[in-house]
Amino acid sequence: MVFWKKLFSSSDAVNAAESTRLKEDLFNLENNDSSQPQIIFSTEKDIDFYELEELCDRVGWARRPLRKVKKAIEHSFLVVSMWEVTGKKRRLIGFARATSDHAFNATIWDVVVDPKFQSRGLGKAMMKYAIAQLRSADISNITLFADPQVIKFYQRLGFILDPEGIKGMFWYPD
Ligand SMILES: CC(C)(COP(=O)(O)OP(=O)(O)OC[C@H]1O[C@@H](n2cnc3c(N)ncnc32)[C@H](O)[C@@H]1OP(=O)(O)O)[C@@H](O)C(=O)NCCC(=O)NCCS
Repeated sequence: MVFWKKLFSSSDAVNAAESTRLKEDLFNLENNDSSQPQIIFSTEKDIDFYELEELCDRVGWARRPLRKVKKAIEHSFLVVSMWEVTGKKRRLIGFARATSDHAFNATIWDVVVDPKFQSRGLGKAMMKYAIAQLRSADISNITLFADPQVIKFYQRLGFILDPEGIKGMFWYPD
């Protein structure tokens, strides 16, 4: 049985997230008889990795070994998926996940919205949902690595670039 954490129509997605209507709205999809497309957020980790990789394909991301994707999701602290649901049909349209030390810090990875659903406020709503989940776990330091072209997207959500001059540093194998 699949339990969904959030249910609202796409048009009021941002308002819903902003007005902290994030109380658990458990919903059993098997009983869904709405013919209107609805947007649902889930924290269920049991998602179809092929469907996720197809979503990543649609934004031009390089393919990753499914074995590693599966492991990364299993070991993530938080997995947020966003679905368009019409009747009993569902389609993965957004995804984000976070790793964490379960106490102080979380880092958000793999933020993606299906290009057909972009620029409607859904990425923002999904991120707000993810942040609310992390805050409810009392995580106060949320970080991420932004591609240069999406810095403004994250800044609009309150993320700060180089706070107090702090720089992200990376080590890669030769
Ligand atoms: C980045 C991404 C998740 C944004 O999702 P989205 O649903 O299109 O974003 P929204 O419609 O919720 O936009 C929210 C706000 O951010 C702004 N925004 C969105 N994408 C932006 C971009 N690339 N550059 C600047 N601002 C952007 C919007 O204008 C909007 O501003 P507003 O709050 O003033 O109205 C989506 O474009 C995507 O999946 N891109 C490809 C994958 C990617 O680059 N992921 C990030 C990796 S770090």
